[in-house]
Amino acid sequence: MEFLAGRRLRRTRASAWSRSLVRETVLTPADLIWPLFIIDGQNERTQIKTMPGVERLSVDLAVEAARQAAAEGIPALALFPNTQDERRSENAEEAYNPDNLMCRALSAIKEAVPEIGLIADVALDEYSSDGQDGLVRDGQILNDETVHVMIRSALVQAAAGADIIAPSDMMDGRVGAIRAVLDAEGFEDRQIMSYAAKYASAYYGPFREAVGSGTRLKGDKRTYQMDYANSDEALREVAQDLEEGADTVMVKPGMPYLDIVRRVRTEFNVPVFVYQVSGEYAMIEFAAAAGAINREASILESLYAFKRAGASGILTYYALEMARKLNA
Ligand code: PBG
Repeated sequence: MEFLAGRRLRRTRASAWSRSLVRETVLTPADLIWPLFIIDGQNERTQIKTMPGVERLSVDLAVEAARQAAAEGIPALALFPNTQDERRSENAEEAYNPDNLMCRALSAIKEAVPEIGLIADVALDEYSSDGQDGLVRDGQILNDETVHVMIRSALVQAAAGADIIAPSDMMDGRVGAIRAVLDAEGFEDRQIMSYAAKYASAYYGPFREAVGSGTRLKGDKRTYQMDYANSDEALREVAQDLEEGADTVMVKPGMPYLDIVRRVRTEFNVPVFVYQVSGEYAMIEFAAAAGAINREASILESLYAFKRAGASGILTYYALEMARKLNA
């Protein structure tokens, strides 16, 4: 069989020790950002039907969760409020109420667990009566008026202790506007993590149940979130956000967009984060529950895929569970 002699790629795969020696990427708890859903009340936890295993937590329980995350070496949390119905409005005024749920969660966690980084989502869908990320007039999503509300929202979040402001709305110009206002108000130390390449995706469905915006939303978000047919445009979005002052950028959703993660990583020398979104979580959970895939193995594989594609870090609902597993 001399035609088979020479190079054999299976040689380095033949045993566990050898595979570990040649492994190209590593996954550690420091790669993971844990998104948390916040609700009002004391000692309250509520289930999310479409995200089995993920709960909305009241602020006191979120503080506990933050302690557990910090103990496992998770560097940061991303907070998302489920605003009470009566506090939602057409103009999303609750977004800049300094005492809103987001701000109360930020300051409570910052005080109790100062060593963990806090990422505050800035978008209006968590506060508006129609579930859109922007102000709506005559069926149109207003850009600059929305950015004005977002600036105010970012300021109350910074004052409450947000370390990273994360605009997730895809309005034009919001990164530069937020940067200018943060600097002017003495928050020049706060980072901006821009949801730079965020696609109009069907995979956000369970998240909208979690924050309570789904049943309100009429239509879609395609006039501001990106068309999933596009890839070059993602690079223009990233370039623009960096120019406006973003410290780090994000690609979202995750697994269907690994090509975008890789392109952004290759073309820009900046940290790129990826969001394994709610629909991706749901797919793994429901497929595993049906016996179609091995749950833990597919979670681990999905997280490694993000690292391999070039992600500096991953927002994932599996963060605590996987950090514990990696630390075990
Ligand atoms: C809100 C926001 C969304 C997500 C994060 N921030 C939903 C949306 O844009 O409709 C999705 C996260 C997930 O699905 O896990 N602007």
